[in-house]
Amino acid sequence: MSRKPVVLVTRKLPDAVELRLARDYDARFNQEDRVYSSDELIERAAGADAIIPCHTEKLTAAVIQRLPESVRAICSFSVGFDHIDLDAAKARGMVVTNTPDVLNDATAEIAMLLLLAAARRAHQGEQQIRTATWAEWSATGGLGIQLTGKRLGILGMGRVGRILARRARGFDMEIHYHNRHRLPPELEAGAIYHPSVEQLLPQCDFLSLHCPATPETDQLINAERIGLLPDGAILVNTARGAIVDDDALIDALRSGKLFSAGLDVFNNEPDIDPRYRQLDNTFLLPHVGSATRETRDAMGFRALDNLDAITSGREPPDRLV
Ligand code: DGY
Repeated sequence: MSRKPVVLVTRKLPDAVELRLARDYDARFNQEDRVYSSDELIERAAGADAIIPCHTEKLTAAVIQRLPESVRAICSFSVGFDHIDLDAAKARGMVVTNTPDVLNDATAEIAMLLLLAAARRAHQGEQQIRTATWAEWSATGGLGIQLTGKRLGILGMGRVGRILARRARGFDMEIHYHNRHRLPPELEAGAIYHPSVEQLLPQCDFLSLHCPATPETDQLINAERIGLLPDGAILVNTARGAIVDDDALIDALRSGKLFSAGLDVFNNEPDIDPRYRQLDNTFLLPHVGSATRETRDAMGFRALDNLDAITSGREPPDRLV
């Protein structure tokens, strides 16, 4: 009987996914769910044919070069792949895959939640209840901004951006977007296209980020571009922290240039810039865009579909390199 391929699973995955892994592979699990250091990861990968990492494992060129010779594939449990140096993996002849599509609805839901929460100051209201400081109902206190009739700018009109547009239309928002390529009319569905980020920004009462973290989008939302947003605009980020310049965003939130921000992703997670916690016009979540039972199962099964294809000599559906 031929041996089962050996797979290093770097984090605890949903039960159903681990069951399938245990059935089909010689899987090394991480039941403690502790993030391995690079050295530990390299050590634990000894003799493994493949690795299933999450976005928490930084597979830089230096790490990839030190991975054991046996590792032929990296099947990431994530749609984002900014944590993997694809060039280094390619140079080592590794196949790398991600888990597109299955996160779209869950992530768009969190973007919608952030839009609503940031606009209606949900954090402050919740605090009052939890700290028993809700003195009395007030006609003028805790006032937020209504979504109805407002302009929502979507930066990156891929799959998540388009689902968010659909959800936001249900709130009677007017959709504006910028994308590298203009969408065909059936996908645009009435959204107004702006050929550059700079043209989009002045049209946004709300701005939601849906572009990947790449060298081109690094700190794209900086002081200059925030300056192009209308005064009192609201920013939402469910994409990656690296797209935003923290100093610029914090200045804009402090000065009132921006009404508020709803953030699910940050630079340097989980050690985020502590100034965000001190602001009362931020609504903050710990990178939970894809955190539904349905989506986390689907992400695991998608990663395994890719792994199954690679280990049985077929083309994986979500090959990045
Ligand atoms: C992703 O899949 O990229 C999400 O950010 C969670 O890792």
